[in-house]
Amino acid sequence: MSELNKIALKILSNGKGILAADESIGTMTKRLDSVNVPSTPENRLLFREALFSSDGMKEFIGGVILYDETIKQTSSSKKSIPELISTTGVVPGIKVDTGAKILAGSVEEKITEGLDGLRERLQTYYKLGARFTKWRGVYNISNKFPSKLSIHSNAHALARYASLVQECGMVPIVEPEVLMDGSHSAEICFNKTSEVIKKCFEELILHNIDLSGIILKPNMILAGVTSDKKISSEEVAKLTLKCLKENVPSDIPGIAFLSGGQTEVEATENLNSINKHNNTNFIMTYSYGRALQQSALKFWSKDIKNIEGTQKVFNHRANMCTHAAQGKWSAELESK
Ligand code: 13P
Repeated sequence: MSELNKIALKILSNGKGILAADESIGTMTKRLDSVNVPSTPENRLLFREALFSSDGMKEFIGGVILYDETIKQTSSSKKSIPELISTTGVVPGIKVDTGAKILAGSVEEKITEGLDGLRERLQTYYKLGARFTKWRGVYNISNKFPSKLSIHSNAHALARYASLVQECGMVPIVEPEVLMDGSHSAEICFNKTSEVIKKCFEELILHNIDLSGIILKPNMILAGVTSDKKISSEEVAKLTLKCLKENVPSDIPGIAFLSGGQTEVEATENLNSINKHNNTNFIMTYSYGRALQQSALKFWSKDIKNIEGTQKVFNHRANMCTHAAQGKWSAELESK
């Protein structure tokens, strides 16, 4: 078993999942604005440290994705943040893309940037304690999109990124996110997501990536947010599993879904159905941002000194997600 495969399995095994706490300063500011908390470096750290030092972290989380600001911050106990995370047995990770920019040649679409100087930045992050990384490509669905250009160029960037990350001894999370925005049907989401994932693996293979040392972070197959043809979680599971079975090589150790704007309970219920019907060899778990943090953030914003209360809310959410990652979640458990 390769070192990279070991790291990936440490992050994903036994129902554990990933806490995506890698919101950029801009995105975190939007999240804090929405609950009327000033977005200062201290407040951003206060909330995140509450999650990182919770019991839920030790019990349910295998890896945390950090943002550049956070990986360089120091905890209240004077430990570096990656050190605080590692001492709970969790693997620290880092978002390394520099965001999605307008794609020249198809200006309504985006291309993710961050390859320039990446080799050197990765070495710095490795020294700071990171052992896995994230890069997110983003695709819109409409009658003309995603275009072949966006599918091709984002897959190429993801593969070049993954190659540099493995060279540096870390596990790359490969995240092609087909957005939920729009009124498209689940069938269209299935077709577009299949095309996107297929292309990603063509490029990853071309770039000689060790597939046993990556984590795929895809969207689930859902109808668009404004579609009037919503599907049940059983159907989400069936279509998601079919898409992944058909397009993902069997060598990869696991899949960690993004929540992408689903509510906390939707993201949990859908993951649970996926695991109940999982007819693949892949571990199927979560790498949630909003679906792990929303309630905790809301609770914390009412009294930012109430760390214990905030941790309780987070512990419950992480517990529910870990149950779902084993197909053992239920609505009764949720409301206990
Ligand atoms: P969400 O679960 O909020 O979609 O965030 C996951 C993530 O890391 C997006 O890049």
